[in-house]
Amino acid sequence: MELNFDYCGFKKSELFTKDYQKKIKEIHLKLHQADHSAGTTWVDWPVNYNKGELILTQKLANQIKENSDALLVVGIGGSYLGAKAGIDMLAKRSKVEIVFAGTNLDFSDLNGKLESLRDKDVTVNVISKSGTTIEILATLNIIERFMKNKYKMAYKSRMIFTTDKNKGYLRERANAEGIQTLTVPDNMGGRYSVLSAVGLLPFAVAGISVKKILEGAGKAFEDLFEESIELNPAYQYAVYRHYAYKRMYKKIEIYSSFSTKFNSFGFWLQQLFCESEGKEGKGLFVTPLAYTTDLHSVGQFIQQGTPILTETFFEVKKPLRDSTISNVPLGSPIKFLDGKTINDVCEAAFDGTVKAHADARVPIVILSIDEINEFNFGYLVYFFELACATSAYLLEVNPFDQPGVEQYKTYMKENLKNS
Ligand code: PA5
Repeated sequence: MELNFDYCGFKKSELFTKDYQKKIKEIHLKLHQADHSAGTTWVDWPVNYNKGELILTQKLANQIKENSDALLVVGIGGSYLGAKAGIDMLAKRSKVEIVFAGTNLDFSDLNGKLESLRDKDVTVNVISKSGTTIEILATLNIIERFMKNKYKMAYKSRMIFTTDKNKGYLRERANAEGIQTLTVPDNMGGRYSVLSAVGLLPFAVAGISVKKILEGAGKAFEDLFEESIELNPAYQYAVYRHYAYKRMYKKIEIYSSFSTKFNSFGFWLQQLFCESEGKEGKGLFVTPLAYTTDLHSVGQFIQQGTPILTETFFEVKKPLRDSTISNVPLGSPIKFLDGKTINDVCEAAFDGTVKAHADARVPIVILSIDEINEFNFGYLVYFFELACATSAYLLEVNPFDQPGVEQYKTYMKENLKNS
């Protein structure tokens, strides 16, 4: 993975000031302390993950591959977006279809999904750290009816709850009814949990190598263990975001990609940054954009609208697949593309977009990877978790709580109890 600051609109050395280095040193110590109670279990997870749990996860994945056509994953927010990001980026042709539910309160959406599973063998993985989230428990209620109709009381052997080790409704039910469980580790919030069973079970079922994902994250842990900003790209990126926000008055950060494989990853990033940083009246609002689709809609705003944007481009050096444009007839407006590949065209679009947005003085960082694969996914997940927690600490907010989300959950429950 490489970060290119050539188009960021200021000298990279401005990221290496004594003041920033002092703050980063404090943050580095805070993140790497042995006591994880602040919410930092994810920090050394790539090297200290629970090996027994990983073996169990793989065993369950193999069982599901043998006895199911579909894995119905029920989760929301951090209990959904990371798994969805990995599946959409990495999933190969797999015997078992992964279907996500519980991500909204639109019954017609759920009903459509259940209809499509009517004649299939299904395993259900309910993911909720708290075990109290209304969307999840309401969806589970409907899904249990569906499963009971299908498998009678044997349906419970087709349920897996991924939840807190000791507490919460799902844990209590699992203990009482003998339902199989996996664990969301202590002091690991939903948005930082993708490298735990939360993401790893759906990945393993989809035929994605969880070993390679963890290897990639482990390499990132090693590479990014440096407290020097100059030697640590995650700290450089966090400082860059702080500089863009504080000194350049940017309010929105765009994650742009020309590969649709990054679409869901962008939504995981949106949650990671918005929920970690967006408090006490601070933080960059993060939004993913899919190019070239969005260049034909919001591209105009990026170049000539209110100058509040900063942009990070994802660049993948080696495309997954490519094809050559050939036999273009004389007189066609794309005759000059004859013999070029779709990726040649995409590269021209990429370079042209970076140039146009840089001309419009949008500060730009380009994050490049050689190719899309499990190792790089694990590397990127860890890179962004570290950059995000560091960014939040630079803003002097707690990266690991979400008081706003909790307030919405409380109000919703009060409304329902009083109605
Ligand atoms: O990242 C977070 O902490 C949140 O987005 C939660 O993951 C989300 O609210 C779902 O919570 P739970 O896993 O407890 O059902």
